[in-house]
Amino acid sequence: MNSPQLSSIGAGAPLENQLSTYLDVATAAALAAGEVLQACWGKLESIVEKGRPGDLVTEADKQAEAAILAIIRQHFPDHSILAEESGQFGDLNAEYLWAIDPLDGTTNYAHQYPFSAASIGLLINGVPVVGAIFDPFHKELFRGAVGLGATCNDKPIHVSSVNKLAQSLLVTGFAYDRRETLDNNYQEFCYLTHITQGVRRAGAASVDLAYVACGRLDGYWERGLSPWDLAAGVAILEAAGGTVTAYDRRPFDIRSGRILATNGQIHAELSQELLHVAQIEPWSWLGVRG
Ligand code: IPD
Ligand code: CA
Ligand code: CA
Repeated sequence: MNSPQLSSIGAGAPLENQLSTYLDVATAAALAAGEVLQACWGKLESIVEKGRPGDLVTEADKQAEAAILAIIRQHFPDHSILAEESGQFGDLNAEYLWAIDPLDGTTNYAHQYPFSAASIGLLINGVPVVGAIFDPFHKELFRGAVGLGATCNDKPIHVSSVNKLAQSLLVTGFAYDRRETLDNNYQEFCYLTHITQGVRRAGAASVDLAYVACGRLDGYWERGLSPWDLAAGVAILEAAGGTVTAYDRRPFDIRSGRILATNGQIHAELSQELLHVAQIEPWSWLGVRG
């Protein structure tokens, strides 16, 4: 993806120090949200659909977001914010924009399926550069910043070395508009399941990206996402040596909602297959590779 205009991060402290300050604040916010998510676990009083069928919001989403916002605002009152539950504060095109998903994997959480996380990313001039993702159920804190590397629970992480799509384990997801469009990822999911070692649908985009970053998974693609689903994970994955683009390998645009994110080794092959399956007759590939 495009490299951030780091020269414009600002004068004063050296760049690395500034990024590490942002990372520390993102981490504090993710951990604070994690406490809320743990406290509300199994005790939800309100689970409502907020728009499309299946798009849920609970008091855990709202309380976790309040905890995150308090921390970000305390440290960076001038920065803009895009938060899933409370919306936009400041200019989305501002130099500094925090993209916040207080509970990524709300459906899992509401069903007490323990796979969710708080995800906090910072975009500088539109480019994700810092991310912190905390999964309180596995007690895993993923962090990363451009130029500073990535860690899981303070241990350095790196993408896998799998270099053939046929030997890869992938992950994807399905957006809440999936009943409204034929561009719903169903063909892609089945086709890639057919030609790889498997495709998981774990239900939390941020954790999907973090798992590619630490080599548990080799690649991820999805459509219909929002900047808060992606910002932190993209920063962490790139810091861990991964590659992030559009499906066709053009530069990634977080506003497009579409992402292809891999260990780099299988990127070209996965891109090719995603473009291929979108062009052929549905199910025409069945049986072709046995
Ligand atoms: C959802 C999850 C899911 C993805 C959806 C997202 P939410 O976020 O990340 O994995 O497939 O598209 O909207 O609603 O649980 O924050
Ligand atoms: Ca989300
Ligand atoms: Ca969410």
